[in-house]
Amino acid sequence: MIYMAAWSKDLEQFHEELDSVNLGPLWAHIHHMNTIEPKSKAIPYLWKSELIESYLTRAEKLLEVGTGSAERRAVYLVNPGMKHLKPIAWGGATQTLYAAVQAVKPGEIAPSHRHTATALRFVMKGKGGFGRVDGEQITFSPGDYLITPTWSWHDHTNKGDETVFWMDCLDTPFIMAMDVSFTEFHPDKQQPLLVPDDFSSKRYQGGMVRPLNDRQPKNVALGRFKWELTKNALDGLSEFPADPFEGYAVEYINPSTGKDANDRIGARMQKLPAGFKGTAHRHVHSNVYHVHKGQGYTVMNGVRFDWSEGDFFAVPAWTWHEHVNTSSSEEAYLFSTNDLPILEAFRFERQEDYKENNGHQDINDVFVPIRP
Ligand SMILES: [Fe+2]
Ligand SMILES: [Fe+2]
Repeated sequence: MIYMAAWSKDLEQFHEELDSVNLGPLWAHIHHMNTIEPKSKAIPYLWKSELIESYLTRAEKLLEVGTGSAERRAVYLVNPGMKHLKPIAWGGATQTLYAAVQAVKPGEIAPSHRHTATALRFVMKGKGGFGRVDGEQITFSPGDYLITPTWSWHDHTNKGDETVFWMDCLDTPFIMAMDVSFTEFHPDKQQPLLVPDDFSSKRYQGGMVRPLNDRQPKNVALGRFKWELTKNALDGLSEFPADPFEGYAVEYINPSTGKDANDRIGARMQKLPAGFKGTAHRHVHSNVYHVHKGQGYTVMNGVRFDWSEGDFFAVPAWTWHEHVNTSSSEEAYLFSTNDLPILEAFRFERQEDYKENNGHQDINDVFVPIRP
């Protein structure tokens, strides 16, 4: 029961007096602290691919990366529900996850640094991208998933002849909330190479076998997860009945530990078969989705968010959501990141299935995205 009896004028004045001396009345505010269920600052939201790209194209003309005007050329997603948070809306697409699209033009070098925030990338388009992570040069191809976990040196370059685009995801809002951010710049623009190119991927070509030396866990046992292998795994799963919420989904794991590939951010690739109509659930962990291929919509808290290739959408904590592939012939592939590793570490995670209406929310509204 929430105790909010009518307060006397004297008591209300007393509250104001407390506030003026930087104190607070718990009896008046306890319901803000102990909410019945999570009330995320972030809201369900969707960013169109063409909007992000139009601004990145302008940034390509305005900024040179690595030559003094910019360390990175990336446009990040700002959740309108977090816009009031200082500074910079905590870089939040959700309450814990930062997400951006980065563009690297041919010949550019995004210089080497490392930071407390843990990071990952999903390559969207363009050939010729390379990244160096802890002494290893890794080739980037569309559909690949890459990790640069906390405090690992990383720099990027583009040796091709077209701009390369990828999604970045970091736990920046979490790091900002915890006040634990450290950053260090490498003395060299590109860190020295310590192992042969694509070393970790070459060591892990065998599926469920592990090099003997990796019996002891490594932070970056495998730096790159090839799209072809991820797709094969999903095709194998697809011979069996689909999960009612997710269709067919796999998580990227660190093969030396079996845990999430990136220590504080989970990442998944899921396939929604043609015509898939998922049922709804909600959970405390939040997600940022990127549409790798296909088209469809996701209903979040009764609002329909239509998506197509390249779009991004945020599913904040405790948001009802269900995914639909609107194509009757093409599969849809959704890449997504989540804060499940953080929530599980503190036993915060809960999940609930939507029971009414055969698991489907009523659609009360259709989201109108901002377009360029
Ligand atoms: Fe970085
Ligand atoms: Fe979900």
